[in-house]
Amino acid sequence: MFFIIKLFTIFFLSFFCHSLKSSSQIIDFTYNGFRPPPTDISVQGITTFTPNGRLMLTNTTMQSTGHAFYTKPIRFKDSPNGTVSSFSTTFVLAIHPQTPLVGTHGMAFVVAPSPSLPLATFGQYLGLFNVTNDGNDSNHVFAVEFDTIRNMVFNDTNNNHVGIDINSLNSVKSSPAGYWDEKDQFTNLTLISGKQMQVWIDYDGRTHRINVTMAPFRENKPIKPLVSIVRDLSLVLLQDMYVGFSSATGTIVSEHIVLGWSFRVKGEAQPLVLSKLPKLPVWNSKPTRLYRFYKNWVPLISFLLISLLIVIFLVRFIVRRRRKFAEELEDWETEFEKNRLKFKDLYYATKGFKDKNLLGSGGFGRVYRGLMPKTKKDIAVKRVSNESRQGLKEFVAEIVSIGQMSHRNLVPLLGYCRRRDELLLVYDYMPNGSLDKYLYNSPEVTLDWRQRFKVINGVASALFYLHEEWEQVVIHRDVKASNVLLDAELNGRLGDFGLAQLCDHGSDPQTTHIVGTWGYLAPDHIRTGRATTGTDVFAFGVLLLEVACGRRPIEIDHVSGERVVLVDWVFGFWMEGNILNATDQNLGSEYNQSEVEMVLKLGLLCSHSDPKARPTMRHVLHYLRGDSMLPDLSPVDLRGSGIMLGTNHGSNESGMFTTESTVAYSVLSSGR
Ligand SMILES: Nc1ncnc2c1ncn2[C@@H]1O[C@H](COP(=O)(O)OP(=O)(O)O)[C@@H](O)[C@H]1O
Ligand SMILES: *[C@@H]1O[C@H](CO)[C@@H](O)[C@H](O)[C@H]1NC(C)=O
Ligand SMILES: *[C@@H]1O[C@H](CO)[C@@H](O)[C@H](O)[C@H]1NC(C)=O
Ligand SMILES: *[C@@H]1O[C@H](CO)[C@@H](O)[C@H](O)[C@H]1NC(C)=O
Ligand SMILES: *[C@@H]1O[C@H](CO)[C@@H](O)[C@H](O)[C@H]1NC(C)=O
Ligand SMILES: *[C@@H]1O[C@H](CO)[C@@H](O)[C@H](O)[C@H]1NC(C)=O
Ligand SMILES: *[C@@H]1O[C@H](CO)[C@@H](O)[C@H](O)[C@H]1NC(C)=O
Ligand SMILES: *[C@@H]1O[C@H](CO)[C@@H](O)[C@H](O)[C@H]1NC(C)=O
Ligand SMILES: [Mg+2]
Repeated sequence: MFFIIKLFTIFFLSFFCHSLKSSSQIIDFTYNGFRPPPTDISVQGITTFTPNGRLMLTNTTMQSTGHAFYTKPIRFKDSPNGTVSSFSTTFVLAIHPQTPLVGTHGMAFVVAPSPSLPLATFGQYLGLFNVTNDGNDSNHVFAVEFDTIRNMVFNDTNNNHVGIDINSLNSVKSSPAGYWDEKDQFTNLTLISGKQMQVWIDYDGRTHRINVTMAPFRENKPIKPLVSIVRDLSLVLLQDMYVGFSSATGTIVSEHIVLGWSFRVKGEAQPLVLSKLPKLPVWNSKPTRLYRFYKNWVPLISFLLISLLIVIFLVRFIVRRRRKFAEELEDWETEFEKNRLKFKDLYYATKGFKDKNLLGSGGFGRVYRGLMPKTKKDIAVKRVSNESRQGLKEFVAEIVSIGQMSHRNLVPLLGYCRRRDELLLVYDYMPNGSLDKYLYNSPEVTLDWRQRFKVINGVASALFYLHEEWEQVVIHRDVKASNVLLDAELNGRLGDFGLAQLCDHGSDPQTTHIVGTWGYLAPDHIRTGRATTGTDVFAFGVLLLEVACGRRPIEIDHVSGERVVLVDWVFGFWMEGNILNATDQNLGSEYNQSEVEMVLKLGLLCSHSDPKARPTMRHVLHYLRGDSMLPDLSPVDLRGSGIMLGTNHGSNESGMFTTESTVAYSVLSSGR
């Protein structure tokens, strides 16, 4: 019986002692997630447990604190005046800022004398202290802070650090967040990255070493701690303390989350079972509205904008190109379609009408050299600007019909192109340029008499062809040295026929436009305003004199400054009986004197002021070929018949005077 009582007493006592011990000496606990909400953990402030087991220390309420404490006291010392036992804790945290990359105040693991810190304040005090008690040893608070703001008041190292705090937010030791790997390499961890990280805090009661270590989620505990310090906590911690977490928000907020927590006194905390921990929300699918807007719409909008810009650019480019190379074909033009060339081809042929390709410019426009892209044919493109479009139809008709003439002494017209108020005439390219370049101003290359005579003959037969051999009479209107072009064999070829007519068309019926070149204009042409075959012959006569004398039709005397009209000048020599003195010095002495004399006299005869006295081109050809003899005229005869090789015709109108280019001026036909 006694034995039974004794046994019972022992049993009872041991049970009592055990229960006494277990109620006052909690050793360890482990939470792999907080579902259902643990009864042993109390939350204060804005801290909550989420349904899926996360411990939300803070939500997005501003300027608040949040606490979670294990409700039971933990015996850190075996006696009130004893030393602090070893302890160890590990937990998984995540910090998610409301505004990406903008941190707020952070969170802390805390060991405090009571399971609540009601008077601690929010913001930089992390819910641990307040402005009066911060730094006071009577706090008995030990904490490890995970601070995401650099606060100069607390001597923070940066805005992403881990520090050991004893009774004060001014850490006794801290380090930028991160970890040391086996190769002793440091890797930064960004606390506000929203990623899970595991933390280990160990205190050795014997050596008083405090180690704080952290690592990315699912990685092993690094051997080298992040922050390590020797500090005896015996004076800091009381015999029984409470452990938990503290966090706070300011005007900017972050969510501070603990996903799992394990703690143990006198030993190592039980490892967390990471696979059992609750999952973090998928932040990306629930970011702030602004962030979501940026993330979803900005790339799309910029992509659309860029595409739109590219499309606009392309359309503009195409439209411009289309417009640039647009071909406008009017009804009347269809019959000339085969003579029409594409502007695009001409554009590319002349390399975009580059100045480098400019052959020269005259009264009607500029002439460009080009190479037809397909046929590889050398061409000369004349751009004629045509303000009055009235006569265009007739003109094109004439140009095209004349272009169909093929004569070895005409510059072949290959076709035309019309664009808005511009006409482009395409000719064969004449490799040796125009005759004027061989005659005046002591040219580099000159022609001997044989070559000059050949050119004269060529031009004469071309003019004869225009006047008499073609089915209708064609008046050239602008016979002059620069319109005589030389082909590869130095044959003279007449160009620019009919162009003068373009200016004639579309003029006011009250006025007659006279188009031609000073020095080549017959007096009757000026007087009546009418171009005839005779006016062409007059100009041809001037051309003959030019070729023989190497002088311009009108030259300014270097000494007296007066204008010297070639016809008068040659006539002067004839009067003196030595017409050959008018011959070009550049010819030297090797020339057929009688031929030169005949050409000079023929030139004078052709440029007779009386149109009736001028020979026709048929006769001119006969004289040149020697088929008939030039009538034996004497200067007196010419004068007797009223030759008037005057300087008075128009040459005083110096404003319009030019010896180089085609000119046009008007006379009131009714006035004469
Ligand atoms: N088919 C052509 N081949 C080579 N050069 C040419 C051709 N047509 C014109 N040119 C050159 O272009 C220059 C300008 O011609 P143009 O505009 O007719 O003026 P102008 O005849 O009044 O001098 C001419 O002097 C000539 O040298
Ligand atoms: C934060 O949590 C507290 C306590 O549960 C609650 O009163 C408050 O409305 C929450 N705030 C937000 C923004 O969810
Ligand atoms: C603990 O220390 C205090 C003084 O520091 C002393 O007054 C007290 O008696 C000590 N208590 C015990 C149980 O040793
Ligand atoms: C700060 O907290 C302490 C208690 O820890 C309290 O006595 C004090 O009044 C508080 N100060 C303020 C300003 O709240
Ligand atoms: C520390 O706090 C205690 C009690 O709250 C107070 O008596 C003491 O004066 C404070 N010490 C300092 C240095 O502020
Ligand atoms: C901050 O650190 C500096 C030296 O780095 C020191 O002089 C100062 O006292 C410290 N401030 C606090 C509040 O501890
Ligand atoms: C880690 O962070 C610190 C402080 O922000 C910085 O000085 C250092 O360059 C970083 N190191 C690496 C490897 O990113
Ligand atoms: C702290 O870390 C060091 C290694 O740097 C180690 O030797 C020591 O045992 C650790 N202390 C604790 C209490 O883990
Ligand atoms: Mg010309």
